[in-house]
Amino acid sequence: MLGLISAMYEEMDRVLSQLEHVESQVIGQRTFYRGTFQNQELVLVFSRWGKVAAATTVTQLINTFKVDQIVFSGVAGSIHPQVKVGDIVLANALVQHDMNASPLFPPTEIPLLEKSVFQPHFEPKLENAIQHFAHQYAEYFSKETLENFGISKPQLHHGKIASGDLFVHSKSQIDVILLHHPDTLCVEMEGAAVAQVCYEYGIPYQIIRIISDEANANAHVDFPLFAKEVAGKYTLEILKHWFKASSL
Ligand code: ADE
Repeated sequence: MLGLISAMYEEMDRVLSQLEHVESQVIGQRTFYRGTFQNQELVLVFSRWGKVAAATTVTQLINTFKVDQIVFSGVAGSIHPQVKVGDIVLANALVQHDMNASPLFPPTEIPLLEKSVFQPHFEPKLENAIQHFAHQYAEYFSKETLENFGISKPQLHHGKIASGDLFVHSKSQIDVILLHHPDTLCVEMEGAAVAQVCYEYGIPYQIIRIISDEANANAHVDFPLFAKEVAGKYTLEILKHWFKASSL
């Protein structure tokens, strides 16, 4: 069974509204929604923000709900010039940019795990579903919405995502992250925590991030509205295509 996570309600509310046969259960102040989406069973949950929230949510999904795959979808801030608002990043590597136990361990290495970078299992059908959505995106939004958010032609990028308990909104914060991981495409607050728990339990996972802002002084203005108006729709349509392809 698949576990689906978003940090915020707005990022996955449309998927929740299409879940059928829903049973909900509150554990540790989080509501887990078990139901079927396109005839496939899954558990959906909003983790809330940050690495601890994400890690505890994933652990619960694995131990209590016995999920055997996890997908996290949500928004992120771009820190790469070629990654634009509206683009989608499918992680092929994840790091915790705020982990720093140097000089005992190299910066960003997880102490005693001997690991800094987590690599998700590649899921070609999910990638195809994202590509499919990126070609058809204009069907799902009004011209006005696309113009308001400056979305022209969403691109899919595969690359490194850096996570930390920090809402990144300045060049100096970005520079610190790029110092250790210059190939980072975007920043968020949960993905690499999900990755660590899934790695430790041996569960496959994918992290999808939709770029809402450029991690600059405007980031806090752009991203809540984006999550509500845009990201939830991306996630719904991507999951629909993916589930359809997976059930063939
Ligand atoms: N999620 C969306 N935008 C972000 C940012 N600028 N920093 C951290 N997480 C984010």
